[in-house]
Amino acid sequence: MDRQSTNIFKAPSYVRHVRLREWVAEMARLTKPARVVWCDGSQEEYDRLCDELVSAGTFLKLNEKLRPYSYLARSHPTDVARMEDRTFICSAKKDDAGPTNNWVDPGEMRGTLNHLFDGCMRGRTMYVVPFSMGPIGSHIAQVGVEISDSAYVVVNMRMMTRMGRPVVDHLGVDGAFVPCLHSVGAPLPLGQKDVPWPCNDNEKWIVHFPETREIWSFGSGYGGNALLGKKCLALRIASIMARDEGWLAEHMLILGVESPKGEKHYVSAAFPSACGKTNFAMLIPPKSYAGWKITTVGEDIAWIKPGKDGRFYAINPEAGFFGVAPGTSEATNPNAMKTLRSNVIFTNVALTPEGDVWWEGMTETPPPELIDWQGNDWTPSSGRLAAHANARFTVPAAQCPSMDPKWEDPDGVPISAFLFGGRRSSTVPLVVEAPTWEDGVYMAATLGSETTAAITGKVGVVRRDPMAMLAFCGYNIGDYFAHWLKVGKTVNRVPRIFRVNWFRRDAAGKFIWPGFSENMRVLQWIVERCEGSAEGSATALGIMPRYEDLSWSGLEKFTRDQYAELSEVEHDAWAEELHSHDELLGKLGSHLPRELETRRTLLHEKLAA
Ligand code: OXD
Ligand code: MN
Repeated sequence: MDRQSTNIFKAPSYVRHVRLREWVAEMARLTKPARVVWCDGSQEEYDRLCDELVSAGTFLKLNEKLRPYSYLARSHPTDVARMEDRTFICSAKKDDAGPTNNWVDPGEMRGTLNHLFDGCMRGRTMYVVPFSMGPIGSHIAQVGVEISDSAYVVVNMRMMTRMGRPVVDHLGVDGAFVPCLHSVGAPLPLGQKDVPWPCNDNEKWIVHFPETREIWSFGSGYGGNALLGKKCLALRIASIMARDEGWLAEHMLILGVESPKGEKHYVSAAFPSACGKTNFAMLIPPKSYAGWKITTVGEDIAWIKPGKDGRFYAINPEAGFFGVAPGTSEATNPNAMKTLRSNVIFTNVALTPEGDVWWEGMTETPPPELIDWQGNDWTPSSGRLAAHANARFTVPAAQCPSMDPKWEDPDGVPISAFLFGGRRSSTVPLVVEAPTWEDGVYMAATLGSETTAAITGKVGVVRRDPMAMLAFCGYNIGDYFAHWLKVGKTVNRVPRIFRVNWFRRDAAGKFIWPGFSENMRVLQWIVERCEGSAEGSATALGIMPRYEDLSWSGLEKFTRDQYAELSEVEHDAWAEELHSHDELLGKLGSHLPRELETRRTLLHEKLAA
């Protein structure tokens, strides 16, 4: 190490946290960057890094008039989504990771990582990014510090979290933080020109150590693989903290529903990745719903703690949205389109000749010519997607017109109902309420969904995605179910639990339910059930609204017959469904909670009757 690099490894004097200084110095010795930069989170720093990303060819500045203060990044074609098969939970005991997580012995994994990270930042800048998940100082928030050799990660983290010097000040001399080490895994030899999207083609590892609450990520620069506050900290590590401390860290949006009478409820909903959480969180009620208002608290993650008054209170730990662009339009999500007018980082969308962005579904008719997400000329007859199916936007949440006045309340908002929804083209009815908390936990635990482009792998296959947390629960999923059952007993006003499905199709393959703003009708029934003012009918699956229990004003064209098709419980399909529940529950062995076993037997009996 030369004299200059010895000096640059010194932390700024405002960092008084000895363990943080030592950890950063230790990681610098391991990864051997050319320089170390502590990020203060300022606007100047953001602007400077964006300029550098433009010079490096990672960012393309969009037309200042059409999309002010916004950029387009194109990733390497092999680095486009979260990689679940490269994600590991390295608990001391394999059993603690459970049957749904990849596990490697922590000692062995440390050996692999120490080898991979040795010198992996050569020629690059190592950024130190202190961040808070949740409003700084909130009793529900947590602090992380991400070390990364990607400036793209830094500018995204600035939007997605509360980032920079205020977090270091808050940590003081000995505050707790989760160490998160990230490298694109592409050392830059002296004199070699960098590529626009460095990553490692051969090796990608996203690793969590539950006991020491550490995250190590190598080889990818994309989304949840690299922005470590999101899935790695706010879900996998936080779910472990939540288990140990009696709260919930969930893959859930949070929204507010206000009725014309001024009654307000907050509802939290878990849908698997790319199943419309962002659209639902920003829903605009149909015209016939004059006086109803939906507000947004969060659109991906909820941290939920029992409050002193016996209710659950939830915060959105994030400060921005990292949303799926394709399918977002004035018709499906006008609030998102307004949010995206300026100050956005787009990744893997298409570029218009005017220097604006486009993606499939943004307009009914595609523009006649575009540059696609890989930088190639594109026309509607090219026969391939212009934007990648998992193309994303990163944008500050505060820009969204529907944000709830309490979205940054450090105490969170009280939750009246939990919703669980999958993408199911058959079998699962529009909405079912669980009669009890335990029934609801069974319903959530056996949630299934057709897979989407948010993860690499096959798209459109039904997989069990318990609580939409399959890829995000940092410990044994059976113990997680037990934890849900237990926390339900710690509050005296437990939220009601509902399962919803917007995606059922008819025999011709067309969606039966119009969805989007019309989901308001289901939401109205849900909040009125919470108030005790809506009727429903008991079925083998739970309580379902009859046609007359929902409001149809403004949607009179939706017939009783269509509703019957949407809510039909088909015997054969359910026999198959239960078989697939059994497959998941059968994997849990002694970790399967008895309450769920009982529910399973009851459901078999009810459906057979
Ligand atoms: C996401 C995901 O990015 O779930 O939110 O994949
Ligand atoms: Mn998500």
